[in-house]
Amino acid sequence: MSARILKPTKENIMLCAQALKKGGVVGMPTETVYGLAGNATDSDSLTKIFLTKERPTFDPLIVHVSLEKATFADLMREQLIYPHDLADEAVKKIDVLIRKFWPGPLTLVLPKSDLVSDLATSGLEFVAIRMPKHPVALELIRTFGLPVCAPSANRFGKISPTSAQDVEEELGDRIDLILDGGDCEVGLESTILKVMEDGDLILLRPGAISREEIMEATKSPVAVITGGKNPHGPQMAPGMGSSHYSPDKKMIMLPMPLSQIMSPPQLGQATPKKIGLLVMSGQAEDAAVILSELLETEVIAETLSESGDWAEAGKNLFKKLRALDASDAELILCEPCLETQGIGYAVADRLKRASAPKK
Ligand code: TXA
Ligand code: MG
Repeated sequence: MSARILKPTKENIMLCAQALKKGGVVGMPTETVYGLAGNATDSDSLTKIFLTKERPTFDPLIVHVSLEKATFADLMREQLIYPHDLADEAVKKIDVLIRKFWPGPLTLVLPKSDLVSDLATSGLEFVAIRMPKHPVALELIRTFGLPVCAPSANRFGKISPTSAQDVEEELGDRIDLILDGGDCEVGLESTILKVMEDGDLILLRPGAISREEIMEATKSPVAVITGGKNPHGPQMAPGMGSSHYSPDKKMIMLPMPLSQIMSPPQLGQATPKKIGLLVMSGQAEDAAVILSELLETEVIAETLSESGDWAEAGKNLFKKLRALDASDAELILCEPCLETQGIGYAVADRLKRASAPKK
């Protein structure tokens, strides 16, 4: 059986809301990546999300809301968080962040209320919440009337989907309905920021809303603990393991940008007949010629942004990775991304994980 891709008409959004009411899961567009949405208040529905994605239950889910004006008071009305644990400083920062960045690609990790299921948070005392910007996601959540949990709609560890067709490719044999909201505008998963009880801020996953923008808005520092490892205490970002967003094919990161490589890169295996290459900027054809001459083999290349624009690169990353994975190249090589700020930093993070050795 194959999933139906639905145009986002009122009737189809209603159909999907009804499926959610019956405990089902549906493919939902957001501005970042497509999500697999289920009723955040129904443990059967949450179980279905984990099973459909083959996702381990230690990896918590993001609760998606659709609020009137998006303020801290709105969030309180949803009764998802436990505000008594928060210092005034923390409340102030959360309000600033919500007003400035919601709806949008910023997930806040906050002390959870008892109403939030332990299944959604994998037993953690904190819950991840975001208000997406995509009109179809907002309309679906509003029509459904309750928050939805929505992990990216890919099989666990695989490349996140940025179109309805990608969701069909990933999960089409396991779900019935996918709402088609077009290509995702951002293309990278949301920035995840943990707000500690005292108001300290910790970046758990970089995304389109940068650490610099968050520091600017809150006038405070933002610590970085990506990859889940926290030298100061318990694990903070479960499910952010080193290997993630992986193509099915083996992917290797070049030791330096292609323009600096003078001798054939070490592949650790015989040179395949055809190699797929992902470069950060410039013309794909030029890059293909350079690598093809170095390795004396056929190369097909994709570029993230010819002009070197990081927003465009972020939007293209998963799409181009998916294209190389589907091509007849036997191995994928990518340039390293050396950016340490802005969206480029999020691209660097995803590329590092996509090319990490699989465990
Ligand atoms: O852009 C996005 O955030 C997309 C779209 C669909 O909204 N969703 C998404 O969900 O990327 P997912 O499940 O693929 O990634 C969620 C990650 C988890 O792997 C975990 O690292 C982190 O969010 N997370 C969720 N709840 C958390 C919590 N309570 N504490 C710490 N990290 C949490
Ligand atoms: Mg994911």
